[in-house]
Amino acid sequence: MMPLQSPTLAIYPGTFDPITMGHMDIIGRALNLFDRIIIAIAINPGKTPLFTLDQRIEMIQKCFPEEHPRIEIAAVSGLLVNYAVQRGAKAIIRGLRAVSDFDYELQLALMNRKLEREVDTIFLMPAFRWIYISSSIIKDAARHGGDVSELVPAHVNQLLIDVFSSSA
Ligand code: COA
Repeated sequence: MMPLQSPTLAIYPGTFDPITMGHMDIIGRALNLFDRIIIAIAINPGKTPLFTLDQRIEMIQKCFPEEHPRIEIAAVSGLLVNYAVQRGAKAIIRGLRAVSDFDYELQLALMNRKLEREVDTIFLMPAFRWIYISSSIIKDAARHGGDVSELVPAHVNQLLIDVFSSSA
């Protein structure tokens, strides 16, 4: 008899300020590989987010309105790998868009491995049409009145419009 396999769990961390269609693409690919995904809003000390933690959680929740049984959304403070071990996650998912991502991602992955050998990082490439986007570039375009509606979920687009029209 085949041994029963326990469900596989991966963590997809990021700042998600805001979540974009590129992130959604990576989540879709990760769901093809893992039974469950935790989307972890983690702290990058180098960033000052536009949206509060609660706004970012709500934005992501609205992307998965049916209480997606295979997706959990969590805010994570402290070391990501500690959280991964605590939750029994086998892998950390990161998106790789271009060669320019590689240096930073390699450093992050190797540091995470040094801290915790049991957790591996898996890199996934988004579809070509999302290769050039980032949360910052989307915010910058939206701040100047650019149409980013194809690059983010509809409710995120509306939030961007609201934020930048109230600060104009
Ligand atoms: N589509 C669109 N944009 C994408 C993307 C995709 N598929 N993949 C990455 N990006 C963009 C993001 O929008 C973000 O853009 P921005 O810089 O303009 O905001 C950028 O690429 C990368 O950011 P993100 O994926 O959100 O990660 P991050 O670098 O902000 O976060 C953490 C890194 C939070 C995962 C890392 O700091 C961490 O693990 N922190 C927890 C503390 C810890 O464990 N520290 C030790 C680490 S060794």
